[in-house]
Amino acid sequence: MTTPHDPGHAAANAPSDPLGPAAASDGAPGSGDPAILAMQEAARRHLWLHFTRMSSYADGEVPVIVRGSGQYVYDQKGKRYLDGLSGLFVSQIGHGRKEVAEAGALQGSELAYFPLWSYAHPRAIELAERLASLAPGDLNRVFFTTSGSEAVESAWKLAKQYFKAVGEPARYKVLSRDIAYHGTSMGALAITGLPSIKEPFEPLPPGGVRVPNTNFYRAPGFVADDLAGFGRWAADEIERAILREGPESVAAVFLEPVQNSGGCFPPPPGYFARVREICDRYGVILVSDEVICAFGRLGYYFGSQRYNYEPDIITFAKGVTSGYAPLGGMMVSDRLMEPFSAGTATFLHGVTFAGHPVSSAVALANLDVFEQEDLLGNVRANEAAFRATLEKLHDLPIVGDVRGDGYFYGIELVKDKATRETFSDDESERLLRGFLSQAVFDAGLICRADDRGDPVIQLAPPLTCGPEHFAEMEQILRSVLTEAWSRI
Ligand SMILES: Cc1ncc(COP(=O)(O)O)c(C=O)c1O
Repeated sequence: MTTPHDPGHAAANAPSDPLGPAAASDGAPGSGDPAILAMQEAARRHLWLHFTRMSSYADGEVPVIVRGSGQYVYDQKGKRYLDGLSGLFVSQIGHGRKEVAEAGALQGSELAYFPLWSYAHPRAIELAERLASLAPGDLNRVFFTTSGSEAVESAWKLAKQYFKAVGEPARYKVLSRDIAYHGTSMGALAITGLPSIKEPFEPLPPGGVRVPNTNFYRAPGFVADDLAGFGRWAADEIERAILREGPESVAAVFLEPVQNSGGCFPPPPGYFARVREICDRYGVILVSDEVICAFGRLGYYFGSQRYNYEPDIITFAKGVTSGYAPLGGMMVSDRLMEPFSAGTATFLHGVTFAGHPVSSAVALANLDVFEQEDLLGNVRANEAAFRATLEKLHDLPIVGDVRGDGYFYGIELVKDKATRETFSDDESERLLRGFLSQAVFDAGLICRADDRGDPVIQLAPPLTCGPEHFAEMEQILRSVLTEAWSRI
């Protein structure tokens, strides 16, 4: 994964700030400001950034974002950036919403903390009821966590304990797709399909099995011109994997509605219907990992609603609070809850801060904003314009594919458009880490240049964005990608 900012290759060749003088506010502090220098020094000395080569910042500036407003965030010097990634697929309602922050503050003064171990509190109850009313099918039970990794971890643990409870104790394996990211804790990492971020932590918990993803741009030759056929093949690979492993040993399949890692792979038509059929045939639990795809990212509260399938479990996090406080969880079907509803049965799992009162209050206020401003409607009304604006980039020789749905897009970069040849590791290193990440940031756009699969630029802006923001993203990317091509 690339860092968003690689000061080793700072600005000399980056395009000038497209936002012009407005990008830096008048009287804004410059790099020599003592407060900025002190914070930079403290960051370099004490803070450990996630998935980041810390050496990149040994001599360069750490990007410090100090505030946000609407679709934009601002750094220490007052420079403005369009938040084209919603932070990290989180800030659905945008930044600086006082009413949501105040809902958290009010809850903090009333009851800042009480656990969900044996007790309940009003905001967790209200939120669980509200989420159940929004979810597909009979996903009526909410188990809260604090993050997406914990949600994924919880879903696997529930699947294992459920099968022990119903007399199928040999079921423990989990299927997931190549290059898919499902989190970093040991269990979630075992489900994650990215070899490079797993290798340092092997051996991981056993039972993770990979199946193909739905990257149609890189589909095998025999289905390369047949999207539905490709979808059928990719779904049937799940059946083949279940049969290969032995159905009596398989507990669950974990799939995102649109796979993020690799650069936004939407499901081909018919894919999820077929997967649902296969899971039912072999008694395997279908987990829809919607840590990114829920809460409006695809124009629906849940991604599974967009593609019309009913999972047995939905995992969520990120957008449930739009990041105003941390929260995650899983929504579970009545069937999976049943063995835990009677007698002495207990799901032997929990974390201290799960369903935190402040986070729950914030989530309720976040969902109020969704309703008051019809954010799902905004995504549905504007997604065609978003796609059309990004597709303009197709005229650039470096742009191989533009794909996604809703407000969730990946732009795959290629060395040769005709043959779809990708970049070598070395070229990718120079292009993404050495130039693109820094140049896009310098040009005033937060997005992600990711090379965990083939190199892609990823975009997932706040759900409040409209055509003017799409145009701004396109213009910045056009300028930076044109420059990138000239350097190859
Ligand atoms: C699909 C998916 N699952 C799980 C996770 C892990 O979530 P977290 O970073 O909150 O632990 C992520 C994070 O991006 C994700 O995209």
